[in-house]
Amino acid sequence: MADTYDLIVIGAGPGGYVAAIRAGQLGLKVACVEANDKLGGVCNLVGCIPTKAMLESAKYARKVGHLEEFGITVGEVKLDIAAASKRAKKVAESGSKGVNFLFRKNKVELITGWARLQGKGKVEVETKDGKKTLTTKNIILATGSRPKSLPVLKIDGDRVWSSDQAVYADKVPATLGIIGAGAIGMEFADVFDSFGAKVTIIEAMDQVLPLEDRDCAAVVEKAYRKRGIEIYTGARMEKADVKKNGVTLSVKTKDGETKSLEFERVLMAVGRAPIIEDIGLEKAGVKTDRGAIVVDEYCRTNVEGIYAIGDCGRPPLLAHKASHEGIATVEFIAGVGHGGIDYGNIPSVTYCHPEVASVGLTEAKAREKGLDIEVGSFPWSANGRARTAGESDGFVKIIRDKKYSEIIGAHIVGPNASELIAELVLGRHLETTAEEIEKAIHPHPTLSEAVAEAALGSLGRPIHI
Ligand code: NAI
Repeated sequence: MADTYDLIVIGAGPGGYVAAIRAGQLGLKVACVEANDKLGGVCNLVGCIPTKAMLESAKYARKVGHLEEFGITVGEVKLDIAAASKRAKKVAESGSKGVNFLFRKNKVELITGWARLQGKGKVEVETKDGKKTLTTKNIILATGSRPKSLPVLKIDGDRVWSSDQAVYADKVPATLGIIGAGAIGMEFADVFDSFGAKVTIIEAMDQVLPLEDRDCAAVVEKAYRKRGIEIYTGARMEKADVKKNGVTLSVKTKDGETKSLEFERVLMAVGRAPIIEDIGLEKAGVKTDRGAIVVDEYCRTNVEGIYAIGDCGRPPLLAHKASHEGIATVEFIAGVGHGGIDYGNIPSVTYCHPEVASVGLTEAKAREKGLDIEVGSFPWSANGRARTAGESDGFVKIIRDKKYSEIIGAHIVGPNASELIAELVLGRHLETTAEEIEKAIHPHPTLSEAVAEAALGSLGRPIHI
C-alpha cells in the first residue's frame, strides 16, 4: 500500500520532530504530521527559543546603563522591544527552517494538516486539499500543550496575554501584572522589567519558583525586589475585571488583606494544558487522566502501537524531556536497546536573571524523605570568575548522600547556571560521587570551579570559604 508507514508522528515540536529524525536515522519509513506550516512547535516558534532571544535583549537592556565601572560610558540609551521581538522571531524562524532541513536529510516525510486517530494503525489527516487516511504500524502522539486560563480570568490575547502574545510584544505596557511565578512568569518578569514596565508578580504558593530549592528562590526574589519588581507570594487572585484599557485584579495577600491592583496588561502564567482534543483519542480508545494521555515508562498508551511523548503525556512539561522521550520511544519501537528515560535526572532551568538550574531533590525534599545528607553550598562571591563578571549573587549547592556520596540534588542560582548544571546531570547519570567531582580538575578561573567547591563543601572541606 502506498501510504503504509512504520511510524507516523503527530506534531513537530521538540518531542515529535526529534522522534521523526531518529526514526529516519534508523531506516524506518516515517511521516510527521504537523498542522502549522512552520516546524519546531511551541519551543521553537513561541517558547524556549524566542523567549531566550528576548532574555538576551533584556540582559543588554539591563546592563547598558550601568557599564561605567567596566570602563564604558554610553550616551542616551533607547530601548526598542519591537526590534528585540523582530530579532527573536528571526531566530525562531531560522530554527524552524533547520527542522525542515533535518527532515529532508533524514527522509522524514512531512505532511501538513490536522491528524486524527481512526483506530489502531490508522490516521486521518485533514490537509488543505482534503482528507486522506494513512496506515501505519506505529503512532507517536506529540501534540504538545497550550497555556491555561483561570476560571476568573480568561486569556483574550489583548489585555490578558499568554506567553504566546508576550513573547512578540511590540510595545511595553506601563504596568504588567503576572499571575504565576513559575518559569514563564519569572522569565517574562525579567524581560518586561528590563524594558521598563512596572511589573507585579502574583503567586499562590509561598515562594517564587515553587518547585525550586527554597534558598535559590529566595536569591531570585531578593534580586527581583531590588530591581523594583513587586512580588506577592501566598496570594490568591479572587476577582478580575477586564476593561477596555486595563485589568483590575482583586488579590487576597498572605496577610489576608484584599488589594485592588490595576494593570495595563496581565500575563497569565499559571501552567500549560496538554492538547488532547480533536485528535481521535476516543475513537482509538486511548485513555486520558486529568487532561493528559496516560503512558507507562516507555511512553506506551493503553493501545498497542500508540505512544505519547512530551507535554501531551506525563510531566514535567519540558522540551528536553520531550526530545529524550522521542528518541527512547523510537528506539523501543525499532528494537534498539535504549535503557529508558531516567525521570529522576531531568534538569530544570529558569533563564531569568539570576538564572536558576537544578537537578534531583531539593534540600527540603531530601530531608522530608529522611535521607542522611550533607549539603555543600558555595557562594559566587568567593569565585574569582564570577567576581570578574560582576555576578556575585547566589551560589552552587550540592546535596550528597553520606553513605555512598551519591549526588542527591544540585541547585545553582547565578551566572551561567543553565550551562553549569549539565556537569551535575552527567555526574548523576554516571553515578559520580562528590569526591570524583571534586578530584576532576576544573580550569581556573572559571565558574565551573564553584561546582567543584560545592562538592568539596558537601564533604566538609571547602578551600575558598
Ligand atoms: P508552572 O506550573 O511552572 O507555574 C505556574 C505557577 O502559577 C505556579 O507557581 C503556581 O503556583 C501558580 N499559580 C497557579 N494558579 C495560580 C493562581 N490562581 N494565582 C496565583 N498563582 C497561581 O507553569 P508556567 O510557568 O506557566 O510554565 C508552564 C510549563 O512550561 C511548565 O511546565 C514549565 O516548566 C514549562 N516552561 C519551562 C521553561 C523553562 O524550562 N525555562 C520556560 C517556560 C515554561
